[in-house]
Amino acid sequence: MILPGRLRLGVNIDHVATIRNARWTSESGGDHPDPVRAAEIVAACGGDGITAHLREDRRHIRDEDLARIQAATSLPLNLEMAATDEMVEIALRHKPHAACIVPERREERTTEGGLDAAGQHNRLYPLVQRLLDAGIRVSLFIAPETKQIDAAIRLNAPVVELHTGEYAHAEGEDRAIQLKRLSDMAALAARNGIEPHAGHGLTYDNVQPVAAIPQLAELNIGHYLIGEAIFIGLAASVMKMRELMDAARP
Ligand code: PXP
Repeated sequence: MILPGRLRLGVNIDHVATIRNARWTSESGGDHPDPVRAAEIVAACGGDGITAHLREDRRHIRDEDLARIQAATSLPLNLEMAATDEMVEIALRHKPHAACIVPERREERTTEGGLDAAGQHNRLYPLVQRLLDAGIRVSLFIAPETKQIDAAIRLNAPVVELHTGEYAHAEGEDRAIQLKRLSDMAALAARNGIEPHAGHGLTYDNVQPVAAIPQLAELNIGHYLIGEAIFIGLAASVMKMRELMDAARP
């Protein structure tokens, strides 16, 4: 159930699959640790959604994981995907609650920048409309820039996810500048009827100023939570993030 007004926490479980895949071979298989178990724990400890990125090279989440995750919990699945015909077909088959369109480059370690929605309107438009027509809530993972919000409006995207990477990596005075960009763009999106989300590089130390941006409806957090889970367990890791997010909002 999605509660209005509450800042939702979507937990990205990709890196559970990264660890699983480190020991997987086509001969012997290997299914530990299972991202499905992570999804179940997230559901049990108050997470609001599961985010999973089916990358073109399947380096972590695999095709068969999607149906298993969907069957294991009733939490909404936010499928991160590149803007390709292959991924659209997969999304149409699985019908996740949301599809977050991300830029993807094979050589990158993680999603390094936002989607250039402004520069790719003609390519993105039919693809976004197909997803929307299938009842999938489309989100565009974009840099916090006016031209990208304008592009999201033209693409009829109901959601944008603002890339918090530059904020997360900023130091000194630049941190406040990056935070203001996020805050201004969340407000601009909301004024235009687009639900703003945010994510990338968020940690216990940097989440609260972002969580305090009133227009944001959802944060998607992965790497830090899964890393922290190694030390304190996944439920504790997620619950601590939840507490910090709640404390940032009156
Ligand atoms: N949101 C999107 C669209 C992402 O691609 C990612 C992963 O790169 C995240 C959120 C989560 O980022 P992180 O793993 O740094 O928390």
